[in-house]
Amino acid sequence: MMSKITEVNPIIWQNDRVLLIDQTCLPGNYQTVEISRSEEMARAIKTMIVRGAPAIGVSAAYGMYLGAKEIQTSDKNEFLKELEAVAVMLRATRPTAVNLFWAIERMLKVANQISGSVEEIKIALLETAKKIQAEDLETCQAIGDRGVDVLPNTPEKLNILTHCNAGALATAGYGTALGVIRSAWRAGRLAKVYADETRPRLQGAKLTTWECVQEGIPVTLISDNMAAHCMQQGFIHAVIVGADRIAANGDSANKIGTYGLAIVAKAHHVPFFVAAPLSTIDFKISDGSQIPIEERDAKEVYQVGETRICPEGVEFYNPAFDVTPAELIAGIITEYDTVAPGDLAKFRVQQLV
Ligand code: MRU
Repeated sequence: MMSKITEVNPIIWQNDRVLLIDQTCLPGNYQTVEISRSEEMARAIKTMIVRGAPAIGVSAAYGMYLGAKEIQTSDKNEFLKELEAVAVMLRATRPTAVNLFWAIERMLKVANQISGSVEEIKIALLETAKKIQAEDLETCQAIGDRGVDVLPNTPEKLNILTHCNAGALATAGYGTALGVIRSAWRAGRLAKVYADETRPRLQGAKLTTWECVQEGIPVTLISDNMAAHCMQQGFIHAVIVGADRIAANGDSANKIGTYGLAIVAKAHHVPFFVAAPLSTIDFKISDGSQIPIEERDAKEVYQVGETRICPEGVEFYNPAFDVTPAELIAGIITEYDTVAPGDLAKFRVQQLV
């Protein structure tokens, strides 16, 4: 039996390479994958060895450094041209999580701003990747603690429902939505987590429950179609989910199924919160209709494990994310504050890129 992991670090910088927890193998096997080249990092993001918006951002930052390290020239203009090619490759991995693009832009900005040699730029890029990682961990802890303050005040301890995995595995550690749940647990305010299994890739069943078990947080796994019933029965006090990209008006993209959950929560007067760092807000787009939605392999829908679950001759649609309109969101919990979706503009100046 696998021993419990006290602290989940999905991304570790060690001996000039990145160690990623292979999230495609959990919960059965806890194993890491070594990444020493930018192409390997691009593949790891695409195949979801590492996943979750902030974790994708941190990984892409290291991917940029690994790519920079591979560039042979000492000519700065040539170096910057080749670094842009690394950025193009990493940007092409997954389209929805804006943290990917945010981290790559931040790395490119550093590369362009350093007035020293190519070697000095490379050193600055590694420092920036480490900084992005350290900041994300701190940010998640702040989100967790801010989030506890806005949870409903009830005489009994809370049951919180979450969708997908917005935990330590999806970030540099601690988590966003699961970070709030973790903080609530540590503050003695949580009775249990209801984890949606999250078809088709089952991040809720495989990853969220695994994280809860590591920390001893009581967790009840439900299939996605049970959430409405659980709310109707009065089991759920609040819903908290993460986000992959939040538009300037507060419309929020997250794992497919989140939108339906928000509608159901509204119908049952259960507060629905989104927890996310400022790096997930895309002020360049005004509303959720402009968020690119990733479509993934149909196999994820028609196969469970290696078994095909429907006959030949069927067509498929497999959007990986959906957009929850701002009006369904009670509050967006960030590292600074929890705000109504319509009040996000106040964070515009605080965003680094
Ligand atoms: O496809 P995934 O597993 O990368 O999707 C992850 C999610 O939808 C998370 O909820 C989101 O990225 C926030 S992670 C803190």
